[in-house]
Amino acid sequence: MGGALASGWLAQGLAPSQISIVEPDTDAAAALAVRLPVRLLAGAAAWPEDSPPAVVLFAVKPQVMDEVVPAYGAFTGSDTLFLSIAAGRTLTGLSRLLAPHDAALRLVRAMPNTPAAVGRGMTVLCGGPGLDAAGRELATALMAAVGDTAWVEDESLMNAVTAVSGSGPAYVFLLAEALAQAGIDAGLAPDLAGHIARKTVAGSGELLHQASEGPAELRAAVTSPGGTTAAALDVLMGTDGWQAALTRAVAAATRRSRELAG
Ligand SMILES: NC(=O)c1ccc[n+]([C@@H]2O[C@H](COP(=O)([O-])OP(=O)(O)OC[C@H]3O[C@@H](n4cnc5c(N)ncnc54)[C@H](OP(=O)(O)O)[C@@H]3O)[C@@H](O)[C@H]2O)c1
Repeated sequence: MGGALASGWLAQGLAPSQISIVEPDTDAAAALAVRLPVRLLAGAAAWPEDSPPAVVLFAVKPQVMDEVVPAYGAFTGSDTLFLSIAAGRTLTGLSRLLAPHDAALRLVRAMPNTPAAVGRGMTVLCGGPGLDAAGRELATALMAAVGDTAWVEDESLMNAVTAVSGSGPAYVFLLAEALAQAGIDAGLAPDLAGHIARKTVAGSGELLHQASEGPAELRAAVTSPGGTTAAALDVLMGTDGWQAALTRAVAAATRRSRELAG
């Protein structure tokens, strides 16, 4: 995800000299240097002390945040904006790791999703109490380099956001898998079923992305009364259809996100 963001910023015209990536592993750093023409640092301590970074973005796994974040507390007290994309790590927990008593800490928690890798991410952000308008604008611009952005004011909503857009791509990929299997069950060869299911999901996503109409209107546009689509939708929109399953799935993911956040 960090690599996708750096690629997005470079593609948007940010100068490579403006981006530093902390990569403690020398082999991984060498491999990164081939892919991204940015400055590589072995750790926070390698940053020049007299010029704090404008932004520190945390893109490591949530479970290594406790180990990684405290070193960046050295930059608090300056104008540095701290942006974390670690799933489930709360603003309070992050500020405790960075600067427990700094009320002016410019801190943002963000939840992106994997379509960010192709510039089609959906990121929802939430700011800490010390975040100013300029910090909010900067965080929006940084995440907009890999797709769309939205903000929530109430941090507890990040659990539902995680369940909808964070985990959501998996539901769509499952749809492609299940549609292919249903095609196989209906007599199609596996290769053909997989191919047409994948292209149908991808093409419909693209149409939804480009069209001015919403999903309900696009669905209605391919549904003639008494036709084949209507026959399928009678099943999918029935009382035990997709809505019920997705509502249960999102509730389960929301619950799990809440549990993981502790
Ligand atoms: N992928 C998603 O859809 C998604 C969505 C929302 C949020 N996120 C969040 O984004 C973060 C990254 O996820 P990811 O899927 O991109 O994971 P990832 O591919 O494992 O990326 C984490 C990166 O951090 C590096 N790293 C580990 N320890 C480090 C350290 N001490 N200093 C600097 N770098 C270090 C890892 O290097 P090694 O590989 O060498 O360990 C790896 O390159 C996670 O917190 C995740 O919760 C991801």
